[in-house]
Amino acid sequence: MVKKISIIGSGSVGSSLAFCLLTKLNLAELNLIDICADLAKGTALDLEDTRGILGFSTQVGAGDDFSLIKGSDIVVITAGVARRQGMNRLDLLKTNAAVAREVSKKIKELAGDALVIVVTNPLDLITYIVNKETGFPRTRVLGMGVSLDTSRLLNILYKETKLPPSSLEAFVYGVHSKDMIVDLSRAKATGEPLNKILDEQKMEDIKQKVRSRGAQIVGFLKTRSAHFAPSLACFSLIEAIVGDSDKVIAVSVLLNGEYGLTDVCMGVPCVINREGVKKIVEIELKRSDKEEIEKVKAAFQNIKADIC
Ligand code: 2OP
Repeated sequence: MVKKISIIGSGSVGSSLAFCLLTKLNLAELNLIDICADLAKGTALDLEDTRGILGFSTQVGAGDDFSLIKGSDIVVITAGVARRQGMNRLDLLKTNAAVAREVSKKIKELAGDALVIVVTNPLDLITYIVNKETGFPRTRVLGMGVSLDTSRLLNILYKETKLPPSSLEAFVYGVHSKDMIVDLSRAKATGEPLNKILDEQKMEDIKQKVRSRGAQIVGFLKTRSAHFAPSLACFSLIEAIVGDSDKVIAVSVLLNGEYGLTDVCMGVPCVINREGVKKIVEIELKRSDKEEIEKVKAAFQNIKADIC
């Protein structure tokens, strides 16, 4: 049973996620850890003050002391610098790789049985680093990226088709970057192939919109990136774990031969339950998808040389 969750990083994603958790799950303990102890403490007090309305009995802890994470069932890593206007997710690599190494050591030492969810960008590379530094089985290190992109896709499709997301089947996989694979060839609207209601040009435009959505948001916000959809995507992953649901959600996971890739993290559909990744689902790839995946492989090899 999941009783204790710790969130490392109390910025906008970490604090929104904490709010979702208090709203929806009655955990025994929720901890916020941040290099800036006052940010974590102030946020925690504000969150705790929702108790009178929400009625939870969760003990909320906060500070810069990593001992707070001791014995956590789930640790979420949101720490690190976020994208600002004009930056891509890779620009964050150097700073956030160092943060991820440090944090991973603490998790290994203090919460050795935890499931780890990575939200820090560049998502797939940080997920890779956390796998290596914690040494945890790959089933216990999950990167949240393409489920956010999938939610963005469903929103954009809704706006084009006016069909509710529940009647749309479409998803994104691959890396959480502009090179993500927006899979519309298998997409369906009310059970019919999407290409029956949208022409090729429209589908291309939709793919482009999904790929650039994160950057579009940073472009408006300028000094920070999205947080509502990222935190909710992370929450839905936690919900699937807590509920032991066997739900299929695409997460970044360390591949070991699946999709022809080894020692690479990439977002692929997975069966999620209390163990984390119960099973990696291998969808049949088209030739163009295989080419995209080859590009992921090449890009990953180049960067790995820098980060390992
Ligand atoms: C995004 O896509 C922050 O990577 C996140 O908005």
